Amino acid sequence: MAAPEVAREDVQEYYGKTLNCTKDLKTNVCTIAGRPKMIKSVRQALAAVHDDVKASFYGCGLTIPPHIEGCRILDLGSGSGQDCFAISKLVGANGSVVGVDMTDKQLDIAYKHEEYHRELFGYKEKNTRFVKGYIEDLKAAKLKDDEFDIVVSNCVVNLSPDKRAVLQEAYRVLKPGGELYFSDIYTENELPDAVRNDKVLWGECLAGALPWKDLISFSKQCGFTTPRLVSTAPVDISDEQAAAVLGELKFVSATYRMFKLNPSPSDGSKVTYQGTLSEYEAELPFDSELTFKAGVSVEVDADLSSILQNTRYASIFQVSPGSSDATVVKCPTDPFIGLPKQLDSAEGQKKATNGCCSQPSPACKPAAKSCCS
Ligand SMILES: C[S@@+](CC[C@H](N)C(=O)[O-])C[C@H]1O[C@@H](n2cnc3c(N)ncnc32)[C@H](O)[C@@H]1O
Repeated sequence: MAAPEVAREDVQEYYGKTLNCTKDLKTNVCTIAGRPKMIKSVRQALAAVHDDVKASFYGCGLTIPPHIEGCRILDLGSGSGQDCFAISKLVGANGSVVGVDMTDKQLDIAYKHEEYHRELFGYKEKNTRFVKGYIEDLKAAKLKDDEFDIVVSNCVVNLSPDKRAVLQEAYRVLKPGGELYFSDIYTENELPDAVRNDKVLWGECLAGALPWKDLISFSKQCGFTTPRLVSTAPVDISDEQAAAVLGELKFVSATYRMFKLNPSPSDGSKVTYQGTLSEYEAELPFDSELTFKAGVSVEVDADLSSILQNTRYASIFQVSPGSSDATVVKCPTDPFIGLPKQLDSAEGQKKATNGCCSQPSPACKPAAKSCCS
């Protein structure tokens, strides 16, 4: 990436001073409009999060994968802690979650509500920990190699001036077989310098967005399996000034999952989901193309076969040799395929979903200059 980029200090200022709450954002990058259908336990965990934490949520997706009970999870750019607290409930007392963020104001909200959530979830010991640090250098935050089962992140990687370092660090701290599952904003192509140097648009999670094909290549360079697209949502540019600078550029919010695994063997296999996961007795969604039906065997390629045999999914799948001429579902990667038609124009982007002001997020407590006022 040749263009000069906005510094981490500018992002810190945006999340530490400019914004007071979700409603201050100028786009719907902050909203949950595009979240896929949630299972009951996830809905309940998110609903249980304290209103003051929710009021400073700036995520662009749902970064809670299935099958996380007992897992040790790291949230990159945890902000005020909404996802961490929901995950804290879902992993249970035997699991834990660490949130890393560089902005004191966001961390302070999270610190302040740890005890509230511990008590609410009935845990003897708290299973959350928040750490101040940079996601490009988790070693400095004292996070060790092979420490986590899952790394999540919600609308943060785009804010980093060094996305490859973030992916490399996520890979380092994951255990073998661990998963990176994260939501972020992507573009179709490289953005022009005029956009990339705009501090407000960078803070709004747009100007730092990666072309999606770069995510695929960076992830592979870091050692991950090919990122699998889980879900997408259109991005609404409701602010006129922002829309004027962005013109016809297209953005999408997308959630991807990728795993830390040794290179796959060359053969695919036949896999059968056993239907043993609670709340997923009938079917288990895996990515945007593939939902496993309980008891139904499916031919999968070598990559997916390896994922299902060498990760936390291994205990819930039965695997047998595949046939060499079988047709397998391709790994979905392009987040622009299947977006609503109206996203084909900049005007359409503005109409695609409601802006943040229409979201039923809790009130913004401190007085702030707001896009809703
Ligand atoms: C868009 S907000 C998302 C926060 C949170 N994930 C959520 O969903 O509410 C971005 C957060 O990432 C943090 N952040 C951005 N760049 C960072 C970096 N390089 N290192 C650590 N934290 C960073 C910011 O301080 C901010 O709290």
